[in-house]
Amino acid sequence: MAITDQINELKSNFISDLKLVDSKSIDSESIYNKYLGRKGLINTIYPLLSKVSKSDKPKYGSQINDLKIFISDKLNFNKNKISEEDKTFTIDTSLPGNERSIGSIHPITAIINEIKLIFEKIGFSSIYGPEVDSDYYNFEALNIPEHHPARDMQDTFYIDKNILLRTHTSGSQIHFMEKHNPPIRIISPGKVYRNEDISVRSHCLFHQVEGLYIDKNVTFSDLKGTLNYFAEELFGKKIKTRFRPSFFPFTEPSAEMDVYWGLNNESDYRITKGTGWLEILGCGMVDPEVFKSVKYDSKIWTGYAFGIGIERMAMLLYGIEDIRAFYEGDIRFLRQFK
Ligand code: PHE
Repeated sequence: MAITDQINELKSNFISDLKLVDSKSIDSESIYNKYLGRKGLINTIYPLLSKVSKSDKPKYGSQINDLKIFISDKLNFNKNKISEEDKTFTIDTSLPGNERSIGSIHPITAIINEIKLIFEKIGFSSIYGPEVDSDYYNFEALNIPEHHPARDMQDTFYIDKNILLRTHTSGSQIHFMEKHNPPIRIISPGKVYRNEDISVRSHCLFHQVEGLYIDKNVTFSDLKGTLNYFAEELFGKKIKTRFRPSFFPFTEPSAEMDVYWGLNNESDYRITKGTGWLEILGCGMVDPEVFKSVKYDSKIWTGYAFGIGIERMAMLLYGIEDIRAFYEGDIRFLRQFK
């Protein structure tokens, strides 16, 4: 008998057996074993494949497989099994649920998220730069000269002569400008590293949020307006700010912005050094030398940049006196921010 005939015969035998299952004169498990069990009829046909020519093998092989699928579909064997089990499984809906313990958002992450939202509202998108970067992006392209004290081994963690842990987020300005044309409106949050002694007030790791705005005819008053809006959104409408002249090689003119927090308790005295004022960011108009590094025409484009320090603000907002608490991962500290 040809192999196809044998397959067909097996199929018609199965169909008549199936009727016995439906009329309950035989149970589906024994039919399953008869056809699909280890010593079942299907397994007896497979050896016949060795007798057909190599080119016919796939054809007959798939006929057998189809029959196998047909049989197991009809028997619905696995599904039946599950539903039998279902019947014995009852849920007591009156029992209280299992409480899951949910983690808390780290206060630094929480503030960064809030800052992102504040700037998103006025059209800034968030981008990220690398934490391990080259001397070029961290210093040179930002017009920081070779002998500038910030490039000193004492202040910067070098990985090798050229590669370092970024000391500020300003390098992400360069990365972004190299890949995009103006106008630009971005913020770039992240970790920065400085080779500093660890104490109550300073750490070798902290966070910044960089900002960069480039368009035609951007002025210093645009910068002040944006940063005052930011301070009001974060600290409340009544917050007082002041701008002090400063210097950064990549902005000209440059300034630092302070917010007046007041002296409400001991920890405010400590964090603001007894003045009530807290310096929260450095800023300025992008220096034409920086535009030169990224081949922007400074006769057409103008812009401002700022770098917000996160830790001190977080310490004031949450009343945290020791900066080290942010990085120690003490669960008792973190749980307070649920
Ligand atoms: N990168 C500066 C710092 O780390 C802050 C800054 C950013 C200043 C952008 C001006 C413009 O102190």
